[in-house]
This record gives sequence, structure tokens and C-alpha cells, in this order.
Amino acid sequence: MPPTTVRRILATSALPYANGQIHLGHLVEYIQTDIFVRFQKLRGHHAIYLCADDTHGTAIMIRARVEGRSERELIAAMRTDHLADFSRFQIAFDHYGSTDSDANRQLCGEVWQALRGRGLVTSREVRQLYDPTAGVFLADRFVRGTCPRCQGADQYGDSCELCGATYSPADLIDPVSTLSGAVPEVRSAEHLFVTLEAMHSFLQEWTQSSGALDPRIANYLSGHFLGEELRDWDISRPAPYFGFEIPDAPGHYWYVWFDAPIGYMAATSEWCAAQAGAGESFDRWWRRGGVNEPPAEIHHFIGKDITYFHTLFWPAMLEAAGLTLPTRVRVHGFLTVNGQKMSKSRGTFLLARTYLDHLDPGMLRYFYAAKLSGDIDDIDLNLEEFTAKVNADLVGKVVNLASRTARWLESSGLSARYPDDGGLFAQAATEGTEIAAAYEACDFARAMRIIMAAADRANAYVDAQQPWKLAKGGPEASGRLQDVASVALNLFRQLAVYLAPVLPEFATQVGNLVGGPITSWDQSQQPVVGSSVGTFQPLMRRVEAAHVEALQQASLAQAPVTPPGASPMEPQTTPTDPAEPLAAEPLAAECTIDDFAKIDLRVARIVNAEEVPEAKKLLKLTLSLGGEARRTVFAGIKGFHTPESLVGRLVVVVANLAPRQMKFGLSEGMVAAASGAGAPGVYLLSPDSGALPGMRLH
Ligand code: MSP
Ligand code: ZN
Repeated sequence: MPPTTVRRILATSALPYANGQIHLGHLVEYIQTDIFVRFQKLRGHHAIYLCADDTHGTAIMIRARVEGRSERELIAAMRTDHLADFSRFQIAFDHYGSTDSDANRQLCGEVWQALRGRGLVTSREVRQLYDPTAGVFLADRFVRGTCPRCQGADQYGDSCELCGATYSPADLIDPVSTLSGAVPEVRSAEHLFVTLEAMHSFLQEWTQSSGALDPRIANYLSGHFLGEELRDWDISRPAPYFGFEIPDAPGHYWYVWFDAPIGYMAATSEWCAAQAGAGESFDRWWRRGGVNEPPAEIHHFIGKDITYFHTLFWPAMLEAAGLTLPTRVRVHGFLTVNGQKMSKSRGTFLLARTYLDHLDPGMLRYFYAAKLSGDIDDIDLNLEEFTAKVNADLVGKVVNLASRTARWLESSGLSARYPDDGGLFAQAATEGTEIAAAYEACDFARAMRIIMAAADRANAYVDAQQPWKLAKGGPEASGRLQDVASVALNLFRQLAVYLAPVLPEFATQVGNLVGGPITSWDQSQQPVVGSSVGTFQPLMRRVEAAHVEALQQASLAQAPVTPPGASPMEPQTTPTDPAEPLAAEPLAAECTIDDFAKIDLRVARIVNAEEVPEAKKLLKLTLSLGGEARRTVFAGIKGFHTPESLVGRLVVVVANLAPRQMKFGLSEGMVAAASGAGAPGVYLLSPDSGALPGMRLH
């Protein structure tokens, strides 16, 4: 149905920190917001999706130092990476800014003046640990020491993982800075605070009654914060700090969480400036009153870990500055992988770019859509379920509809009149209202269920009509064949319209195949007749278990030596490794570089792996060295690896070893693997992600 009034909708995702790469957890949020905005656009609303990199703070300052470059070089490089990842996941921002921009500095100044003007800023001395070697004040996570309660060694600056105590870093026994190893000093510095308590009744009202929050979030806030006096918010940091210096407090910088949400507004302002002549202005989106039109809707999508900032500090800042309050803050849960927190050591800390090396981004978008129901529960990416669901729904139900009917229309085109389909198209058209309501509520899971039920009915129709029999039936059956295929392809295109917010690239391909570009939700309401049909191209391939396995292997290969949770800037604690393996097998006699050069080690991909039933230890592997080059190798790894787990992964092969005739066949090389004393097993070597078969080891 065409929307009666055009709504103005501004949607944001939380600004990703510029000190790390985008991972699949982040993508829960960016994909969710992107689907929401694409849906609103498809419905004809004036919707924009804004985001930016969150660039300020101690972590970035330290990281830049460690990497020996300036903060601005670091954040520029990270921005390029973030944007590349987002675009490959088909996440389409209308504008992507940076908190380190002029627009942001200016808006920060404006909000600051408003806070000052309302007498909400005070100052007081704060005692904090200071690293005299690194010359910085230490955030709690950069300090370790002995727990003052249980005497447990090597605990964080603010809490003990052993006994659960929480304390001030100044109470830690024998504290050490993880930045430099120096003993930190307690130093006092002046900090500026916002007296949030002055906004208590406003926050009470807004959180509980404005309709902006899910009741579970509203209850959480009243149970944890609003039941007592609100604590002053420490909003400044002393130099050195990478951020904006506070104009009326030289030597003091706005804390990153002050300038970060203002980045939403700065992105709006930059976007408006770029819409030259389109009548867009910052004030129309963010300033209350004055303008003679209904206020714009503002939807913030955030993860549950940053609820506090977006539901207390942020509305308080906006209220104090007389700016538009969020219509809705949509809080989502966290991503788990295979039921557990993402973990580098388990190979489940999946970076966006590693995923893209192995799997199709549309599949993740669909899987997330099928999981997201608009509430704050965590969502799980179980990789087996992912494989099964994507194959069953997208490949088996949706794409299958076209792959078994489109080719019969390549020469004839669609029937000139839409044939009798027993009411299937009309039924799915009617369901458009429910699907739209589910999208609007961010209950994408429900939308996907309704769409897949329609796909089931469409496939049942094709099964019953048996077009493949009509195709053999000679000229008298050809009219009927055209009709059956025209119905199937129309039902397929109707599904593509409904799925377009989730699968934009797929929708484009469907438009190219039949009926032209998908640009409006209304296209789900009318079948296409009489037009030509393009050549069917496989729109999506099945996910093979080997691809998923290869993804996990590649993630494992990226696992750093640092324990999970530790910051990469911390000095790396070298694990104490046993001495047995080396002791049990002393080093071989010295060789020269020329000796080494005789051995040609290459990266290879295992393209096939099978059991050799008669051999106890051997698996028969087919290796690809790129292009057409193949090798058969018998490897003594049976019992440690199953054939299925090997297919697709990269290994290292001794490629110029003289072929050896074995009982089971000719072995044309050797796969590099480690084994020895200390641990049972045979450990295959994997190159870093990005290596290509055929590359030589130097
Ligand atoms: N920079 C802040 C946000 C400032 S907004 C004014 C930040 N950045 S973040 O990079 O850590 O996270 C960005 C968003 O991704 C947050 O909403 C966060 O909750 C979300 N996620 C990060 N890891 C996540 C999962 N594992 N699962 C789901 N969402 C997660 O916070
Ligand atoms: Zn303790």
C-alpha cells in the first residue's frame, strides 16, 4: 500500500571505534539498521542512514603511539577499512562521517554552551593513576596488580576476576602500567562534571513514558539508576588526550563519550550540506519547534552494552540544548558464535573481511534477518544452523523457484495476461501488510517467516504443475508451460520485492532477470505481464561445510598470542611452553640458504580428501596449486582430521619432492605438518588469510 504521508526518518547505528576492525558482532547492528532504512525507502518514506567512525580517546592515542604513526593517520586508515567492509556487506549509509570533524567540533561547542548556560557543569579534583613513563593517565584496564581483597595476582585496575571485588585502581597492591611496565603514581587532576541529577525528573519521564524505549530497558533503567540520585558524569580528561580541547577549559578535553553521540548530528549536518539545493537543513532534523511541519523521527540502533549512554546522558544533553529527542532507541543483544562469546582462540572471533574471503555477504544478511526479532536477547550464529538455513531457504526455496522455471521463458517472455494461479499472487500481496508491519517493528524474523511460507506455496505450485513434463509435451503444451513458468517467476519476483531490504543485490539481479528494477514496495502488489525474461544466472550457490570450516580455520590462524580480552597494546605475556618437543628432537645439522632453496614449498588448497580404507594412517588428498595444477598426495593424518574438515583449507606442500609409488597410488608431494613430544597429534600448517595456492614460501 502506498504510504499516505511521507515520514522523515533519520536512523543511526552506533559509531564503531576507529581502533579495531569490523567483526560479525558489529554487523548485527549495521545490517539491522540498513534493513530498516532500506525498508522505509522502499515504502516511499524520506529515510536516511547516518553513521561515522568514533575516533577519539585514550585507546586510539596509545595504539597510534605503538604503531609509530599519528592518530590522524591511524584513523584515516581505519576509516578506509571500515568503509570497504560495510560496502561489501551492502550496507548503504547516506553519509559516513567522523567524530574528528569540524562539524562535530562546532556542535560539541554548542551543546557545551547549553550545558554551561543551564549551570549543569561543575569541576572537582579526581585522583587517578598516572603512568610517568608513558606520560598518560591510565584508564582502569591499563593497570594490573594484586587484588586488595583476596591478594590474587595480576588483576585489572577496577575489579578482580578471582573474587569479584570491585575497587579503585588506587587501592590495587603493587600496580603496574600495562603500557610501559612502570609503577603508576596517584595524581590528582581537575575534571569537569555534568550534574545529571538536575535532569532527573526529565529522564524519569522520558525513559518511562515517551515510548522511546522497550519496557525491558525502561525497567532496567528505573531499577539500576533512576531509583536513586544520579551520579555526576565525568565529562573531561586532562591532557594528553586525543580529542577536542574544551574551548573554555584549556588543557582539558571532552571525554570521547561526549563527542561521540554528537557525531550523529555532525553527520546529519555534513549530509545536509552535500544535498545542495534539496532544501535539507540540520534544523529540520534536529531542532525542535519553529518549523511548520511534524518533527522528524530519530531512530538510534545500539547494542545493549551502551544503553546507559544513549538513554541517560544523550537525552539529557539533547534536552539541555533544546534539540530533538530520539523517537526510539532500539537496543539489540550481543552476537554469540556457536552458543558462546566470540573467541579468538576458538576461531569464532570472525572479522567481516575474513567472512568475505569465504562466504557470500547476502547470506549473513539473511541469517541475521531471520534471527532478529526486535528485542534485546542475544542472537546466536550457529555455523551449522547458518549453513542449513541459508541452503534450505535462500537456495532451496527462493532461488530454486527461478532456477527451475526461468529458462522456459527466455524466448517467449512472460504470458501477456497473468494466468490463473489459484489465488497465490493475491494471497502473498495481501500478506504484504503484515510483512511491512513486521519490518516496521524490526521483527525481521517474523517477516522472513511469512515470506518463506509464501515461497513454500509457490514451490508446491510448481511441483503440482510439473512444467518439466509440459516441456516435453510438444507445441500444444507450450502455452501452458509459458503460463506455469510465468506464475512461478512472478511469485519469485514478488518474494524478491519483500526481500529487497535484506538482499539488495539479489533484488537487483532479479530485476535484471525479470520486470526491471525493484524500487517500490508496491511492486509486490501487481504481477508483471508480457515482458521479456533475461538469461538465468545462478543467483546464489549452496554453502558447503568446507567453506564454513575454512572460515574458522582462517580465523584461528589470526588468533594473536595475547590472551582473549587483553588489549593488543598490552605487552604480550609469552606463554610458558614446555621444553619437551625440542628436547625430544634436537635440531638437524646446519644447512645453507642454497640447501633450503632446493626445497620448493608452496601454498596449496585441499580440493578433495578421501579415506584410503586399507591404510591405517593415510588420507588421499587432491591439492590445487592454482589454475589447473593438481597433485595427489597421501598424507599420514588419518585419525587427526576427517576428510570433510579438510576440503577447502589451505596447507603448505613440499612441491618438488620426487614422486613416490605407494601401495595405493602415486604420491606427488608432502603436506607440511608438525608433530612431536609433548602433545599427541599431527598439526597441519596454515598460511595467513589471503595467501593463494601456488604462492611459494621464502
Ligand atoms: N564507539 C562506541 C559507540 C559510540 S555511539 C555514539 C562503541 N563502538 S563499538 O565499536 O564498540 O561498537 C559499535 C556497536 O556495535 C555498538 O552498538 C555495540 O553494542 C555493537 N557491538 C559490538 N560488538 C557486538 C557483538 N558482539 N554483538 C552485537 N553487537 C555488538 O560502542
Ligand atoms: Zn580478588
